[in-house]
Formats: sequence, structure tokens, C-alpha cells
Amino acid sequence: MSHATADMPYFIKPSQTITDDDKRVAYDQAVQEIKALTGSESDVIMKMVSINCILKTHLPYYYWVGFYCVRDGALIVGPYQGTLGCLHIDFGKGVCGQVAASQKTMIVKDVHALVQGDQHIACDPNSQSEIVVPVFNADGQLIAVFDVDSSVVDSFSETDQHYLESIMHSCFAEGTLTQTPLAL
Ligand code: SME
Repeated sequence: MSHATADMPYFIKPSQTITDDDKRVAYDQAVQEIKALTGSESDVIMKMVSINCILKTHLPYYYWVGFYCVRDGALIVGPYQGTLGCLHIDFGKGVCGQVAASQKTMIVKDVHALVQGDQHIACDPNSQSEIVVPVFNADGQLIAVFDVDSSVVDSFSETDQHYLESIMHSCFAEGTLTQTPLAL
């Protein structure tokens, strides 16, 4: 049975489009907050949840935002905000898996133009456009991909790519990363 339904739960809103100039203002503000809050932190999960929250607060076209983390040669869902995300994605599958394999950012203007189940994995049918950015640690190893979906077609531009690649680099490739053990 699919979890995907076109109904948005009470805590989810459709994306609102903003201009590229307004995006830059919003990202500048978000970057300041992310640096102030997590600049001296090392815990990976703490950083991921805070980045999701701050970016989603400032950027009104973010419908789903979150991380898929590399585990045993595949991706598993990590911290996110939005409707239920798929749990497992193989390298090479969907937009996230293609980015994990190529280690290069992808912007998809219209996810319905892709081959469903192969080039794109639909976790929520309201998603229309998407950007996925690779996340590396200080050793240059891929630790995750960062995924943003919009419920509007063509939401993401090179402005998003520029800011998101820079945020991922400063948060995960500079300084030390630690992973809090979940089972003590
Ligand atoms: N659409 C993604 C799957 C993850 S969801 O968007 C949350 C993909 O094609 O990889």
C-alpha cells in the first residue's frame, strides 16, 4: 500500500513562489542563523535538524526538506520536515540516488518529466520540482544527500544550488563531525 496521497496534512502548506532576489535575502538570513546556532557544534543529527528547520522557516517554497544518509552503500532517510519520506533509496535510483552516485547537484524543474520509480521516486504526489545536493565530510567522503521538494513546478534555480552547496560545505566539511549513539 502506498503512503502517498494528494491530501496535505494539517501541518503542511503548499509552496509559495518568491523571486530570486527575495531568495537571496532569505538565504542570507538563514545562513546567519545556521552559523550562529550550529557553528561550534559537531553533532551531525543536531546540525541536520537545525538546518532543516531554519531553511524551511525562511524559504516558503520548501515543501519537503531533509537528508538521506549513506548507510552500507545505500541511502536511508535521515532528519526531515514534511510528509512521510521513503525509507530506503539505492544509489542510482531516484533523484537522490543519482546524486549519491554522481556526487553532483541535480535540479529537476518537473519531476513528472522523469521516469517514475527509476529516475524519480515519488514519496508525495504533491512534489513537482526538486533540488538534491551531495553532502561531504572533511575527508571528502559522501555522508548524505540534502533534498528539497516544492509543490510548484520550477522552484529551484542556481541561487538555491549556490547557497545550499555552500551551507553543506561549511556545516559538514569544515570542522569535526560526531554522531551521537542512539542506543546507549
Ligand atoms: N524524490 C526523491 C525521493 C525522496 S522524496 O522526495 C522525499 C527522489 O526521487 O530521489
